[in-house]
Order: sequence, then structure tokens, then C-alpha cells
Amino acid sequence: MKNIGIGLIGFGTIGAGVAKILLENKQTISDRLGAELELKKIADLDITTDRGVTIPDGILTTAVDEVIGNPEIDIVIELIGGYEPARTFVERALQSRQSVVTANKALLAKFGNELFATAKENGVDLYYEASVAGGIPIIKTMREALTGNQINSVCGILNGTCNYILTKMGDEGADFAETLKTAQELGYAEADPTFDVEGIDTAHKLAILTSLAFATEIDFEKIHVEGISDIKPVDFAFAKEFGYKIKLLAIAKNEGGRIEVRVHPTMIPKEHMLAKIDDVFNAVFVNADALGPSLYYGQGAGMMATASAVVGDLVDIARNINNNNLRRIPDLSFQKSRIKPGNYRPMSEISSQYYIRFSAHDKTSVLSRIAGILGNHKISIASVIQQGGGKGDTAAVPIVMQTHKAREKNLRSALSEIDQLDIIAAPTAVIRMESDL
Ligand code: HSE
Repeated sequence: MKNIGIGLIGFGTIGAGVAKILLENKQTISDRLGAELELKKIADLDITTDRGVTIPDGILTTAVDEVIGNPEIDIVIELIGGYEPARTFVERALQSRQSVVTANKALLAKFGNELFATAKENGVDLYYEASVAGGIPIIKTMREALTGNQINSVCGILNGTCNYILTKMGDEGADFAETLKTAQELGYAEADPTFDVEGIDTAHKLAILTSLAFATEIDFEKIHVEGISDIKPVDFAFAKEFGYKIKLLAIAKNEGGRIEVRVHPTMIPKEHMLAKIDDVFNAVFVNADALGPSLYYGQGAGMMATASAVVGDLVDIARNINNNNLRRIPDLSFQKSRIKPGNYRPMSEISSQYYIRFSAHDKTSVLSRIAGILGNHKISIASVIQQGGGKGDTAAVPIVMQTHKAREKNLRSALSEIDQLDIIAAPTAVIRMESDL
């Protein structure tokens, strides 16, 4: 039986998971592949820490050059994360005509266009299933299963840490900082949790999905990104009163040829399938013209779930090698000649319904002054909740409004006027509401 040589760079949690699958499921994999995936080398600066998996002698090395350019290694797995040295290692492996599997969404969001060009020039594959939504096979679905469809929109919950925090805050009324601390203790958050909670990790993943959906170059910079760190427990209570849940959503939609790409906390009706995705789970909701809506749900992070996606890619590339058919599937689903810069709609031009929470001093005519300014900016109010009061003129009370659909730029102009008023005690909080995903 033919052997396909595998080299792994980065022996952390996911790397150990990949080694475990390759060693423990060797038979299942070769029964499916008709060849052996042989783990030849694992390179890491730390090869002494016990990773909970027994690696045969002679495989662990601290020298990355025993993997890159090694003629016995057909496929290199990059699992070190971050931009450098991951970018250099991936470039060098591709230039050595080794195919690459990566889980590195940050790398692809920033340097994907050039790395895919290098893969093409060298006639090898660069696969990346584990980079988006961990173990959920969404890349394969979009690159292969949905190729007969035009995609209208892709929306997702793509960060387990944020979803865990939002679920706990919603269920238990917990505060953001304390819930983040628990998420870190449970090992969900990235080394720098800013990437998780400020929406950057989600936006990296959305950059990749947008390209697959709309034949655009990967363009992380075009994504409007807001995180979850400003959401207060009171917002969950009001969301519940309106019949909504709060999720950090990644949204890419094509409306009349213009693409909206945004990541922000979003209120979605509690009946929507995405509203039911809780804890660390991820989900991607795709609206396609032939298939209609479909939902892909599962574990978006974690050792074995992410390793499952990496090994799936290894088997796919090994099948291509076995059939002398590398480059069988275009990197980003579309032929490279068809991939263009995107025609994006600026954030100021999007329309949405809005949840607005004013912190106002409890004085007479507060409501009429706020409503007047909103009206002047063509923002129509759908419902209002005013709580508290009765504590005298100086106490700040929340006044919460749900608007009808309005233009983002009108809302921003109205709020900058309202926040100047002497009746407003703190900056106004806004969460977009999406009912027609
Ligand atoms: N920190 C990420 C998450 C891991 O919480 O989803 C997977 O990218």
C-alpha cells in the first residue's frame, strides 16, 4: 500500500489531537483512503511537554527544516497559529512543492490571497477546513456541495468563546468580565482574548467565508467589526422582553450586487435556529438559491473537533496525490480568474432594525425630546420600554426603544445629537436587530 508522508509543525493541543487521530484511527483512515498516512516528523520548539499522546521514536524534532523540504513529506500541517513564522513556513513548504493543511484563520484572512497564489504556482494544495468553525465541515460544503448554487447570504456564530459568554450572560444575568474569566479558565479563549471578544477572530473566519460565497478576494479590512465587551446584563433582560436573543453574528450578504460584511452583537428572534446555538457551539447558516436555507452546527473549537477537520483535509489531499490530481478543487471554490475585489456596501449605508438603550435622567419631556430627534432623522420607533423613575431628577434610568428598519447613517447622526443632550447620563447603547437572516 502506498504511503503518504505527513509532517506536522506545531505540537500544541490541536497538533496532539491530529497525532492521536493519525495513530489511533490508522486502520479506518487507510480503509477509506487506500493508502497509509504516515506521520514522519513533528516539529516544535517544545518537544518535552507531555501532550497525552505517545509519539514513536525519531518523529519529534525541534528543527522545522526536517519537515519543510523533506522529500519524504508530501503534506505539511501548520498548527502554530499567528502570522509569523507561520506565513514563512507555509510559503516555504508550498515552494518546496509540499501541500499544506492549516487551521490558521488569521494567516488566511491577512495573507490568504498570496498563499493561494503560491500554492497554484507550485501545483500543490492548500487546505484549511479547520480554520473556520473548527470541526464543522463548512469549507468543504461551500467548495464542493453547494457549487450548483448562488449564495445569497452566509451568517454564523463563529467564535465559541463569545457564544459561551453571551449564553452565560443571558441565562444567568452574569457580568461580562467574570464570564470571560471562566471562559479562559475552561481554555476556550485564544491566547489573547481580545481577538475573541472584540470580534476579530470571527471576522478572520468571515473573510474566508465571504470569498467562498461571492468569488471575492479575501479582504479582512472591509469587514465592519464590533465585539461583545460593552454588552450589559440589562441588555439581555430587554432582549428577552422583545422576544430576542443576543449573539455575536458574522454576516455576509449580497443585496443587489453589493456585499455587506459585518461582525457585531445582534439580536435575533428567539425562534430563529441561530438563536438556539448555545455555549461554545458554532453554527453557519447559509441561504442559497437552489438549496434554500441550511444550517451547519457543531464544535467550533477544541482539540479533537479541530483535529478531525485537519485529518479530513489530509485525506482529501492524499486522495488527490493518489490520483495525480492535485489542484482538483479551486482554493476558494471559484476559478482564480473569476475572483475579483468585492463591491462592498459601506456600513453607513446598511439598513437594520435597532435596539437602543438610552441612559436618561428622569425628567419631564425626556421621551419627547429623544423621539423628536429620532423622527427628524427618519427613524421610526416600533416600541418603547421605560423603567425605573421616581428617584428624583438626577437618577439615570434606561429608556429602551426598538426601531423599524432605518439607515445606519441616520441612526448615527441622531444618536450623536441625542448624546449631547443634558438629559442623557451616559453614551447610548445600540444593538442591531436582524429578523430576516
Ligand atoms: N478561540 C476560538 C473560539 C477558537 O473561541 O472559537 C477557534 O477559532
